[in-house]
Amino acid sequence: EKDGHDYFMLKEIAEQPKAVADTLLGRIDAAGSLRLDEVRISASELREMDKVVIVACGTAFHAGLIAKYAIEHWTRVPCEVELASEFRYRDPILDPRTLVVAISQSGETMDTLMALRHAREQGAKVLAICNTNGSTIPRESDAVLYTHAGPEVAVASTKAFLTQLVACYLVALYLGQVRGTQWGDEIQAVVRDLSRIAGAVERVLHTMQPVRQLARTLAQKDTVLFLGRHVGYPVALEGALKLKELAYMHAEGFAAGELKHGPIALIEEDLPVVVVVPSPRGRSVLHDKIVSNIQEIRARGARTIVIAEEGDEAVAPYADHLIRVPVTPTLLQPLVATVPLQVFACELATARGNEVDQPRNLAKSVTVE
Ligand code: F6R
Repeated sequence: EKDGHDYFMLKEIAEQPKAVADTLLGRIDAAGSLRLDEVRISASELREMDKVVIVACGTAFHAGLIAKYAIEHWTRVPCEVELASEFRYRDPILDPRTLVVAISQSGETMDTLMALRHAREQGAKVLAICNTNGSTIPRESDAVLYTHAGPEVAVASTKAFLTQLVACYLVALYLGQVRGTQWGDEIQAVVRDLSRIAGAVERVLHTMQPVRQLARTLAQKDTVLFLGRHVGYPVALEGALKLKELAYMHAEGFAAGELKHGPIALIEEDLPVVVVVPSPRGRSVLHDKIVSNIQEIRARGARTIVIAEEGDEAVAPYADHLIRVPVTPTLLQPLVATVPLQVFACELATARGNEVDQPRNLAKSVTVE
């Protein structure tokens, strides 16, 4: 049942190219237009929306954080992302022109369910992004876009996360398509890139041996920090979450620009710091800034583990360990950059003798508030 893998988590990591491809299947037509007729919120209703609010927990929340960058960029509609457990307790502003997107692998997470119930009571429309057919969250939503990751057994979410990202991109691009934005050409180009992204994820999987080796050398460490910017920031948060839940290590993700506002005080000799580097093309200012962050932390003794695009030579001199990922549009980079962090956490958990598929104190679906 584990298909020759030691753990469900490894099997599910390996299934990611297929999960991504299956989630795209039938949703992009031959002309490169998005077909989301299954989302039973009409194009005219979507054109009326003046705000998107995403609610989710844990890994699904990280998918939501990434979605915000895509939605605001491609649609110019303001987007908020909130932990479902906090949402309804702060009296959020919602009305029929708010599109609430609830992201959940299991479809049974109580915090997310309570948040969407609250949103619907205020008259907002709720679109669920969910991996489990017929579960409670999609049943109680106005519409649903299913992710097609297949059953996820390991407690730590991997393939569901990648498919949540794909679904979020589809929603963002679809909103852009029905509303018509200045980014029409870019949207078309990204749709083409998205339809090829499963191959890029596959290529990452073939280069994971050095990541495993590196993880094993860090088994005795107490702390690992993760840094990123732009969509790399939520990727850093996700890398840290995976490490906490699987390796039971102290792990924290930071926006690299925040380093100088406090966290840089944590840097000490031989502290492992994973840095997710944005593409040097596109938002190159951010790239250059993060390269100087890497220099700064390395000068203070950090052991830098750098995830950077193929061909990005500027980072190489400052990387103690360099993990390459394929070239993608900036907004899609999380689909490839997250994979090494999943492998890293899984391998560290193994090296520390932890139960990978069933981490202590955790349940696969959290049905209490
Ligand atoms: C982390 C993880 C959890 C879930 C969270 C939400 O690896 O699995 O953080 O992402 O409990 O679960 P769903 O997506 O089922 O609502």
